Amino acid sequence: MTDGVTGGVELPAVTEWAMEMRDPADLRPAPAPAVEMAFSLARVPSPDVNRALYAAVGARVCWTDRFGWSYADWDAWVSRPELGTWLVQAEGTLAGFFEIEAQPGGDTEIHLVGLTPAFVGHGNGGHLVEQCVRRAWQRGASWAEHAGPASRVWLRTSTLDHPNALANYRRRGFRVALESTTPKTVPDPRLAPWPLPCDPRQRAARHAVREVVQEAAQDVVRAPSEQELIP
Ligand SMILES: CC(C)(COP(=O)(O)OP(=O)(O)OC[C@H]1O[C@@H](n2cnc3c(N)ncnc32)[C@H](O)[C@@H]1OP(=O)(O)O)[C@@H](O)C(=O)NCCC(=O)NCCS
Repeated sequence: MTDGVTGGVELPAVTEWAMEMRDPADLRPAPAPAVEMAFSLARVPSPDVNRALYAAVGARVCWTDRFGWSYADWDAWVSRPELGTWLVQAEGTLAGFFEIEAQPGGDTEIHLVGLTPAFVGHGNGGHLVEQCVRRAWQRGASWAEHAGPASRVWLRTSTLDHPNALANYRRRGFRVALESTTPKTVPDPRLAPWPLPCDPRQRAARHAVREVVQEAAQDVVRAPSEQELIP
């Protein structure tokens, strides 16, 4: 059944799991990835970058919960010192990213983690999650320096995520802490709306007006002399 407005489909049963790791020693390393991956902490918060990666990684697995976020919402989200965003590069391009948050009381939540489509299904996901979890445990040291050390790393995943996601978390040492199944209306991820703070067409229109005025001014300067006009 669709809602006819956003192309939303009501799924009768979406199962969500909260998964946790309570000891860094529980992290099980993954086999070497198929490609060499480089991980860098984004030191300049950018709503545009996080939003673009959210769409690139998540559109095929129904990441739609942030569709309603305005530019200001994204800006507020990424600008918090407790949020760390890592960009993953491989083969000279963006291969994925993750967002982790140092929460009060020692919890670190993995909000988003994923590969861009070209890198999915080749054995890179284990390494990605391993590196993500290592950094989650390092909060208070190499990032979110103001926060204390982590005592628990946790995340939410669901049947809307990639079918390999749950197995991957289990293989890395996560355990299910909570499970629930509810219906959920999921908007069409292919629409990927992006409510920018201003309409770029207005600038284009202003630019066009300026061009016309400048061209007109040049025409005045370069207006032919009377002699040129006399045959
Ligand atoms: C989730 C994601 C990172 C997994 O990466 P992937 O390339 O699909 O999976 P991989 O081939 O690397 O497999 C990852 C692990 O899961 C295991 N696995 C994969 N499919 C499995 C299956 N059907 N049954 C059991 N285990 C499976 C693999 O054995 C591997 O474990 P290992 O590293 O110990 O060998 C990737 O699919 C992705 O980014 N998807 C889009 C975003 C997303 O859904 N993110 C999760 C949000 S919570």
